[in-house]
Amino acid sequence: MGFFDQFPRFYQTSQTSPLPDRLNARHRAIVADNASHFAGKRVLDIASHDGRWTFAALKAGAAHVIGIEPRQELIDNARITFREYGIQDGTYDLWTSGVMEAIDGVRVDTVLCLGFYYHTRYHVDLLDKIERTGANFVVIDTEVTPSREETSLSKDNGDPRQVFDNPYSMQLIRDEVGDQQMAYSDSVTRNGHTLVMRPSRAAIHGMARHFGYRVTEFDWPAYFAENPSHADAMTDYRDGWRSTFFLERI
Ligand SMILES: C[S@@+](CC[C@H](N)C(=O)[O-])C[C@H]1O[C@@H](n2cnc3c(N)ncnc32)[C@H](O)[C@@H]1O
Repeated sequence: MGFFDQFPRFYQTSQTSPLPDRLNARHRAIVADNASHFAGKRVLDIASHDGRWTFAALKAGAAHVIGIEPRQELIDNARITFREYGIQDGTYDLWTSGVMEAIDGVRVDTVLCLGFYYHTRYHVDLLDKIERTGANFVVIDTEVTPSREETSLSKDNGDPRQVFDNPYSMQLIRDEVGDQQMAYSDSVTRNGHTLVMRPSRAAIHGMARHFGYRVTEFDWPAYFAENPSHADAMTDYRDGWRSTFFLERI
C-alpha cells in the first residue's frame, strides 16, 4: 500500500495529477527516502497546493511545516483534509500567498519546492531566498528542459517543449493563470497568461552549486525498472523531462 492510499482524500482535492501511482512514487522519492530530513525538522513547502506534501512531511515527523500557496480554494481543501485526518493545529501554518512575497524571514531546516520551479521566472532569486532560510536540505521536483542526450523522446515529435542545445537554458513558457496547476495571475498577465521559465537540468545544477549546495538526483530509471506499471502515470519522469533534485548544503 502506498502512502497516499491511507489518505485517499488527496485523490479528490486537486485537479493536478492526483494519480495514486504518481503520488505514491513521488512520496517514496521525496519523503520516504529522506526520512532524516523530516523527523523533528522545520519544513517549508513551497506551492503547497492541497496540502499533500505539508501533510506527508508532518506524517514523517516534522516538528512544524509552513505551506505557501496563492490559491485560496486549495488552502481551504488542505485545512479540511488535515482536520479530517487528525493533524494537530499548531503543527502547521498555511499562508495564502505567492512564495516570493512570503518567504523572507522564514527559517527552516528543509525546503520542498515541488512542481513549482517551472511555474516561475524568479529561479535565481527564489534559490537565493531558499538558501537564506538556512535550509540544509532542499528538494526541487520539477520539469526540466532536457538536452538531446537526456530525453528518450524523438526530437521530431513536434512538441515545442522538448530540446534545447544550450545546456544552461531557461525556456520561456506561457502559463495559463486560470489553470489550477500553473502560475497565478500577476502583473505581467495578458490575455489569461503569464510568463514563466523552465530550467534545464544543467541550469539547476549550476544555480544550486552557486548557492553552496551539492546536487544529486533521484534514480527514476531504476525506480521504473522495479515498478514498470507506475511509469504510465509518470511519462514526464520516464521520458527525461522531469526529475527530483536533492540539494545538500556543502
Ligand atoms: C503543479 S502544482 C504543484 C503542487 C504540489 N507542490 C506538487 O508538487 O504535487 C503548482 C502549484 O503552484 C502554485 N503556485 C502558482 N504560483 C505560485 C507562486 N507564485 N507561489 C507559490 N505557489 C504558486 C499553484 O497554485 C499550484 O498549486
